[in-house]
Amino acid sequence: MKHLLFIIAALLSFAVFEGCNSSQVEKESRSPGEIAFRSNCQRCHILPKPSMKSDEQWPAIVSKYGDKANLTITDQKQILAYLIANN
Ligand code: HEC
Repeated sequence: MKHLLFIIAALLSFAVFEGCNSSQVEKESRSPGEIAFRSNCQRCHILPKPSMKSDEQWPAIVSKYGDKANLTITDQKQILAYLIANN
């Protein structure tokens, strides 16, 4: 019986540890939108800041320069989501 409790406790603490671990990774890792933004939007100029334009202005800008940079619609959507989320 003691043995079983020990195993349960070990499993629980592992689950808690894993939980902390994965949320930390989430915080530190970059979203697909941020990665696409950083790799594509500083090819021709310095990286614009999300606060440079309003949420209403970004869609037209991302599609204009996204087309110039030959980005897919998926990339453009992810970049736009990143800009608006960080504006
Ligand atoms: C092919 C080169 C090129 C790429 C790639 C590019 N830009 Fe630009 N960007 C320009 C040029 C050139 C200008 C100067 C204004 C103009 O002539 O359109 C500019 C200007 C801007 C401006 C200021 C324009 C304004 O109306 O105030 C913003 C904001 C901007 N780019 C955002 C982006 C974003 C976001 C991306 C990534 C999706 C991007 N750019 C990728 C060439 C590029």
